[in-house]
Amino acid sequence: MQVVRSRAELRAALASLPRPLGVVPTMGWLHEGHRSLIERSRLDNAAIVVTIFVNPRQFNDPSDFERYPRKEAEDLEICRSQGVDLVFAPDVDAVYPPGFDTTVRVGAIAEPLEGAARPGHFDGVATVVAILFALVGADRAYFGRKDAQQVRVIRRMAADLGLPVEVIDCPTVREPDGLALSSRNARLGPAERAAAPILHRALAGAVGAYAGGERSGDRLRAHMRGVLASEPLADVEYVSCADDATLRELDVVDRPALLSMAVRFGGVRLIDNEPLA
Ligand code: PAF
Repeated sequence: MQVVRSRAELRAALASLPRPLGVVPTMGWLHEGHRSLIERSRLDNAAIVVTIFVNPRQFNDPSDFERYPRKEAEDLEICRSQGVDLVFAPDVDAVYPPGFDTTVRVGAIAEPLEGAARPGHFDGVATVVAILFALVGADRAYFGRKDAQQVRVIRRMAADLGLPVEVIDCPTVREPDGLALSSRNARLGPAERAAAPILHRALAGAVGAYAGGERSGDRLRAHMRGVLASEPLADVEYVSCADDATLRELDVVDRPALLSMAVRFGGVRLIDNEPLA
C-alpha cells in the first residue's frame, strides 16, 4: 500500500493502478462504517484509493474542527489490512494550494436540515469532494447513508459538473444498541454514550408508527420529539420528516420520505436517519 501526500505523488501513484478504480473519501478515525465502504469498493473495482483529510472548510465551528478526532497511524493500519492500494493523506496546502479561491456551492438540496443548521458546511463538502474527484479520477466513489443529505449534495454536484464518477451510497453501520457509527462517537463521555442510542429508538418508533398507518408529517415529527424528550442529555437541534428527493418537510407522507435528526450530547453533535418507503 502506498501513502502519498502531494498532488504530484498522487498522480504518479495513480498511473500504475488498474481500473476500474474506487475511492472512499474520509476524514480519518476509520471505523466499521468505513470498512464496509472499503469492502464494497473492493467488490466493485480493481483498485481502491482511500483519502484521509480533515477538511477545515466544512467545519462551521472552528472548535469542532480542532476537536475532530485524528489517529492516522491506526487508520493506515486499517487500510493496509483491508487491502487498500493507495492512501492520499494530504496536508492542507496539497488540497488548497496557496491562492486557492474557488468554492463549489450546490443549490436547493444543500439548504435545509444540515445546510440550515451548519451554514457553509456543504460548500466545504462540495468543494473538497470536487477536488478529490478531480485529483483521484476514480470510476466510483463510496459514501455512507448516515450522511444522507451529503450523499444527495455530492450526487447533484457530480451530475451538474459532469464529473465521470458514479456516487454509491452504502448502508449505515450500527452498534448493537442501534447507535450509528461515527467518528464523533469517540468524543462521547460514558453517560452520553449510554444516552446516544435514543436517536435510533426515536427513528425506529416513527418507522413503526408509519408501518402502523400514520401518514401525518407533524405527528411523525412529534413522535420522534417525544422519544427524544425522554432523554435528559439529548439536546435536539432538529427532527425532520421530509421528501426523500428534495428533503423539504412533508405535511403528508404520500411519497418516499426520509426521517432525520440532529441531536447534541454535551459538545458532540450526532445525526441519524431512516427512510420511509
Ligand atoms: O463524510 C465525510 O467524512 C466528509 O464529509 C467527506 C465526504 C470525506 C468530505 O470531507
